[in-house]
Amino acid sequence: MINGKIGVFDSGIGGLTVLKEIIKQLPNEDIIYFGDGKRTPYGGKSKQTIELFALQSMKFLTQRGAKAIVIACNTVSSNAMDAIKQHYDLPIIEVISTTAELAYNKSENKNIGVIGTKATIESHSYEKALKSMDTKVTVHQKSCPLFVPLAEEGVEWWEDEITKMVAKRYFSFFDNTDIDTLILGCTHYPLLKNSIRQTIGNDVCLVDSAYITAKQTKIMLEKSGLLKKSSSKGILEIYTSDSIERFMPMCNAILGMDCLNINKCDVGE
Ligand code: DGL
Repeated sequence: MINGKIGVFDSGIGGLTVLKEIIKQLPNEDIIYFGDGKRTPYGGKSKQTIELFALQSMKFLTQRGAKAIVIACNTVSSNAMDAIKQHYDLPIIEVISTTAELAYNKSENKNIGVIGTKATIESHSYEKALKSMDTKVTVHQKSCPLFVPLAEEGVEWWEDEITKMVAKRYFSFFDNTDIDTLILGCTHYPLLKNSIRQTIGNDVCLVDSAYITAKQTKIMLEKSGLLKKSSSKGILEIYTSDSIERFMPMCNAILGMDCLNINKCDVGE
């Protein structure tokens, strides 16, 4: 299905940080994005619920012509990969393994911090991925459940003093850990990057999933012979399960363009 679309999904706006990079690295590809704003955040939900929501998103995207899927969500990648792979046989790109590898390569002292949603941290997926590369690596994990609601609340919160106060409270966990690299293990967190940077300081390297996931998507499409042949600019379709009015300003701010093709949908049973 060479002419199919790249399907990208997340619990909400976070996956747009990955989508932006995919558009940059694969400008000719047609892309369909789904953000489940109605049910965000996923991070405090059970594995069964995350699996159910993930399978519903997969169904929605594959029914609309997805030839490959990018799970632009750490929470889904950490909790629902097995369930997704049981039901779907198409190229699927998750965010954990490549992001962990990137962080491992960036870290000099192999002392790495991970922040993510509760479900991602409790799955230990980053810890497992890092330890599988090197058993001697030290991993310090901290869930930051208030970050996703702050990011979803609107652009004005991303650099607000409240957000920095919340970050300060969470990051005291890393005092005396000597981490030199911090994985932003949630695709919403790059939106709060300035607040995170100000709080954690300039000595810690921040690693997120966007660039490396887009690169991995390109490699995967090439390998599967699914790269679009035509050189015409790709078409972008965006769907949200919540209101378009709420989604649009954040979507435009993240992608840095006016997105005209934003639609409302319902993926629940
Ligand atoms: N953007 C998600 C992630 O990467 C989601 C979070 C959530 O809905 O809690 O984990």
